[in-house]
Amino acid sequence: MSAQLTPNPMRGATPEPTPAGDATAFHRRFPDYQPTPLFDLPSIAETLGAGHFLVKDESDRLGLPAFKMLGAAWASYRALVDHLGHEPEWTTFEELSAALEPIRPITLATATDGNHGRAVASFARRIGVKARIFVPAGTSQSRIDAILGEGATCDVVDGSYDDAVARAGQDAGPDCLVVSDTSWEGYETIPAIVIEGYATIFAELTEQLAVSKLPLPDLVVIPMGVGALAGATSQWYRRSGIPANTVLLGVEPSSANCIQVSALAGELTEVPGPHLSIMAGLNCGLPSPVAWPWVSKGFDWFVAIDDIDAEDGVRALAEVGVVSGETGASSLGALLAIGDLSHFGLPENPTVLIISTEGATDPSFYEQMVGRTAAAVAINAPKCVVTQHVSGACPVARCPGTCR
Ligand SMILES: Cc1ncc(COP(=O)(O)O)c(C=O)c1O
Repeated sequence: MSAQLTPNPMRGATPEPTPAGDATAFHRRFPDYQPTPLFDLPSIAETLGAGHFLVKDESDRLGLPAFKMLGAAWASYRALVDHLGHEPEWTTFEELSAALEPIRPITLATATDGNHGRAVASFARRIGVKARIFVPAGTSQSRIDAILGEGATCDVVDGSYDDAVARAGQDAGPDCLVVSDTSWEGYETIPAIVIEGYATIFAELTEQLAVSKLPLPDLVVIPMGVGALAGATSQWYRRSGIPANTVLLGVEPSSANCIQVSALAGELTEVPGPHLSIMAGLNCGLPSPVAWPWVSKGFDWFVAIDDIDAEDGVRALAEVGVVSGETGASSLGALLAIGDLSHFGLPENPTVLIISTEGATDPSFYEQMVGRTAAAVAINAPKCVVTQHVSGACPVARCPGTCR
């Protein structure tokens, strides 16, 4: 097995989250909000020896090819509201933009390895505020172009993702709000709100499973950079009302497995760079301290994989018509590299869930890996499970019925 799979020695009781508000209600106020599709893929289930293999597909989330807008927009909104001093009345983004007049000029700043920064920039554009995004050296030109395309400035920092985070943090001031998805000492509130924003994925999933009468997942596999998405996963699956035996597995590149190394050490531990994995969203050397209590206590297993494993995941999903980039497909790549599900103590015919966290965020590299463009792969896209089980108006909130 090329993958390094380790049980989490820190597993224990998770703390109670204290939400800043209803992130899902906020997302539903976007004019283009709709739930992302959920796929049930029998051929991959058979390969893995599972009863169901479910994929929540985040390749088209609020106009962007990754899930990150959920956290970026919610945290940006809460930061702006906090700066304004009260929650304004608004229905449209034009009204929200007008309500922010008293705090202009205002800029949103963040560091990113691509997706979070693009999402902050995109939300800033929607509400007419400026955005300043810092990326590490080596960020692909297509990711930089995507950020510039949202009307933001994009500075390349001579160093790693963690150096870019430090640089963005320096910009904080009365005219500049930092909206980071990772935390540091004295900067915890916003990253905690980013985590909350990701809950919308699981709220939708729960509705989609109920409507389509599919079982709850026995194993949930999550790609981990700083661990904010993993933190949200743990907050969802470790609360009451959810089967306590849902197994959570976190995936990292072997060159940036800071969460696995930290869990084995029993404390936050840095994995020094350079972090050059093709799993660009996971090239992080230090877990987010704010996510850590949930990730370190709520996850059962961690696995570190090589780039070649992620590529296998990309191609396996492309074969069944699902467009997923090298970070997004790392969860399937990990399961294929581990080889079988026997390690996890699952019931017979288990249901396995992955969140495909991005589409082809680097289109030319995607084509190189798969031998086809993302558009050519998507021609054979599967149908959302809800469409297969429900005729007429879809009961999932704001679902267009076709579920793409
Ligand atoms: C596509 C994608 N998936 C997963 C992750 C990991 O998220 P987190 O950094 O919250 O662990 C990222 C982070 O940038 C990402 O871009």
